[in-house]
Order: sequence, then C-alpha cells, then structure tokens
Amino acid sequence: MSKQHDQQRREAEHALDQFRETEEGKSQYWGTLLDYCRGDSMIALLESTLHLSGDVIECGVYRGASLRKICRAVSDFSPDKLVFACDSFSGFPAEQVGRVDLGFLRFRHRVKKKFQLCDDVPERMERFFQMHRIHGQIVKGNFSETLKQFEHEKFCFIHLDCDLYESYKECLGELFHCLVPGGVVVFHDYGSPNWPGAKKAVDGFFATKAETPQQSRQRDEPAWYVRRSAEAE
Ligand SMILES: C[S@@+](CC[C@H](N)C(=O)[O-])C[C@H]1O[C@@H](n2cnc3c(N)ncnc32)[C@H](O)[C@@H]1O
Repeated sequence: MSKQHDQQRREAEHALDQFRETEEGKSQYWGTLLDYCRGDSMIALLESTLHLSGDVIECGVYRGASLRKICRAVSDFSPDKLVFACDSFSGFPAEQVGRVDLGFLRFRHRVKKKFQLCDDVPERMERFFQMHRIHGQIVKGNFSETLKQFEHEKFCFIHLDCDLYESYKECLGELFHCLVPGGVVVFHDYGSPNWPGAKKAVDGFFATKAETPQQSRQRDEPAWYVRRSAEAE
C-alpha cells in the first residue's frame, strides 16, 4: 500500500464523511454496513458472543473498515458494550517487521512502510462513534505500550488484524487471558500467504493450550478463530 494509495483512501473517506452529514446519507451508510456484516463470518462470531459479559476489542484498525462493521453489530445487539480500537495509527513499529513476516515476493523495505498515513483516523472514528452512539475508545500507540492497561479487563470478543508475527504474539500474550469462557478471538491474517508470521504466532501460542484454531464459513467471507473453552477460569 503506497502513500499514494493511502492518500486516495483518505480523500474517498473525506467524501464519505460529507455524504454522512445528511440524515439520508447517514442512514444509507448504516444500511450498507449491515450488508457488509451479513457477508462476514467474523461478524457472525462476534454476534455469537454478545450475550456474554465483557467488552470488545480490535487490534489493527488502520482506516477502520472492520471496526465499523464491529460497531454496527455491537450497536444492534449489545449497545452498552465498550469497543476498544487499538493501533499505532502510524503503521508498524520500527524493527517489528521480521523475516518471518515476508510473504512470497514481498520486500521488507516496502512492508515496513505500509499503513503509515492514517493520523486522521482517530478523529474520524470519534465522530463515527458519536454519530452512531457507540461506546468506542481509541487506544493509540504500539501494542507493547498500550495493551498492558487491559490486564484486569474482560472481553467477549477480540479481533486481531495486525499482520505481523511479533504483533500477534504480543496481542495473544496480553489479551487471551482476558477472554471470558465462550468468548472468541478472530485472527484475520491466519493462513494468509502475505502474512506468514500470523499463523506461526497463533499456532505457537495455542500449541500448549486446550483450544485449536478453527475456520468458520457461516457467511461468504470465512474467518479463523478460537472460542475460549467453557472450563477456562
Ligand atoms: C491490516 S491493517 C488493519 C486493517 C483494518 N482492520 C481494516 O479493516 O482495514 C494492520 C494495522 O495493524 C497495526 N499494527 C500492527 N502491529 C502493530 C503494533 N505492534 N502496534 C500498533 N499497531 C500495530 C498497523 O498500524 C496497521 O494499521
């Protein structure tokens, strides 16, 4: 994803923000989001946890595409839950991109530069939260610095979409114990040829646990996940 591509996305979102300023635009957009949710197994898994206690968290937000779908589903089924949105909002942390993260024909200097141009996203997402009465919280910074604050938090659903081996390892290490029994963690990049480090980190983490990653194909877009066992304390 080049800077030029990032810039085009930013401009498209600016136009969308203006469209949403009208009541008609706002409700049309809300309807479109529902269509996206209906095609996504990640959202089906989220919905299956919303009766449980605990909040919702996403690690890897970029420009908020998956976060907006998550917010739509939470708002429909459990609007009191908090939705935490964690990202550096300036791309991958320096030196976090390892050899293990380089998929077929991918170059480290290019991969390192991905997702850097999104400093406008926190403010845009705050407006989105307000507009749709979502209890959302932006958590800006590298996971190594921000995730420790959740040590005593409970989550029913965790969405990981952070590409890198080290990032997946960090997120699982800091957050999996916060998942309530029956809660779900989804791994967006598991099995992706572009991000081989994600599967390696997830498989490594669960090698010594009762749970194993599974794939859900409930909706058009499949999703890899783990549901925390009911015996978990
Ligand atoms: C693929 S993008 C997320 C895409 C997003 N979920 C969507 O639907 O468009 C990956 C994001 O993870 C973030 N990220 C990866 N590792 C991180 C880390 N260790 N700390 C903070 N952010 C990280 C990057 O900044 C990037 O925005």
